[in-house]
Amino acid sequence: MRMYDLILKKRKGEALTKEEIYFFIEGYTKGSIPDYQVSALLMAVYFQKMNKEETVYLTEAMMHSGEVIDLSSIEGIKVDKHSTGGVGDKTTIALAPIAAACGIPVAKMSGRGLGHTGGTIDKLESIPGFCVEMTKETFIQNVNVMKLAIAGQTANLTPADKKLYALRDVTATVDNISLIASSIMSKKLASGADAIVLDVKTGSGAFMQDIDEAFLLAKEMVDIGNRVGRETVAIVTDMNQPLGYAIGNSLEVKEAVQLLKGEGPKDLEKLCITLGAHMLLLGKKVGTEYEGKRMAKAAIDSGEALNVLKNFVKQQNGQIDCIENLDLLPKTKEVYSLKADKRGYIHKIQGDIVGASALTLGAGRDTKDSKIDLSVGILLNKKMGDYVETGEVLAYIHYNDENRRDLAIEQLLKAYEIEDEAPEHRPLIFGVVT
Ligand code: URA
Repeated sequence: MRMYDLILKKRKGEALTKEEIYFFIEGYTKGSIPDYQVSALLMAVYFQKMNKEETVYLTEAMMHSGEVIDLSSIEGIKVDKHSTGGVGDKTTIALAPIAAACGIPVAKMSGRGLGHTGGTIDKLESIPGFCVEMTKETFIQNVNVMKLAIAGQTANLTPADKKLYALRDVTATVDNISLIASSIMSKKLASGADAIVLDVKTGSGAFMQDIDEAFLLAKEMVDIGNRVGRETVAIVTDMNQPLGYAIGNSLEVKEAVQLLKGEGPKDLEKLCITLGAHMLLLGKKVGTEYEGKRMAKAAIDSGEALNVLKNFVKQQNGQIDCIENLDLLPKTKEVYSLKADKRGYIHKIQGDIVGASALTLGAGRDTKDSKIDLSVGILLNKKMGDYVETGEVLAYIHYNDENRRDLAIEQLLKAYEIEDEAPEHRPLIFGVVT
């Protein structure tokens, strides 16, 4: 088999076979096929697209390019949740204990990654002492005992995707539905869960800004999961403004814990309860979404989910008193109040701009070697649809460096649009794809 023939075949719009896709993924992973040929193939895929079979073969080939985690020694149906990412998305920190409190084993591998803020792992590390490195045996034992463990992704998970994603990034071939869906699903499948709930975000703070594209991506990923025998459901949700009020690592942990204490923001709570209900459905703990929502809500109201979180933090060496007293989490030296320069209704808090502003403060990584400041971030005081008076606080900027603060303010101001009339309501949940 020659890579040249595969490139030509795809350039002409023909479908690649399973053998051809495995040939290219295996060759690229071990280094026998060079970047320039894979770049050419990616560009051909970008223009000619892949059909469903090709997308499934690509996913499976990438999934098997490295370690595939075996969770079979964990009792029960393991349900994982994945979000395509957004600004202020701290859902996992609250949702995982909710699902675990309802009896779902949650064995989660999470990433760090680049972004406006850190990934779930970075966020959890703002709890002093919290450790995400553990042996496979400890990981499995923790889930069997407490129904919940969150670990950093092993280095050898889907190496083909790591190489391919980096190459797509520099060859303008990221935004192709088959390539995105196979990239995300290969990692999820290799992480070993039996069933998967996907939170596909859409709007200005999301990867998929267009709602129709978000539904297409959701459908593609659900089809892949179901074809390889892992029951998969996707919920398409709003990311046109940040989720909740907090953006920044320790601020987000604080907000997620507040939710479990019954004091969380309504949008975050609604999202956690909806995603939780679908995890419970896939885990066969309930028969309907309605029952699932009631069970998830009861886990919050009874304090059971908070107890699970505390045990989980303790088990992973985190300082439990930081959960009891949230003021002990990392804090900045200074907080600046950003005030409205006119009165009216907030029409826009553009997610990507808020994210960029948080990144400027140091909440995220520009490059994979950047160091995150876990304490900095933005705490919104108002959300879309709220009315503000001139001089009222729009957001609190938590900062450690004045130069960064000034740049962040300049950016953040551009995220807002304030008008005389109230804006149209935008739903949080757009739909469920099964
Ligand atoms: N996230 C991924 O993991 N892969 C993509 O291709 C896009 C987003």
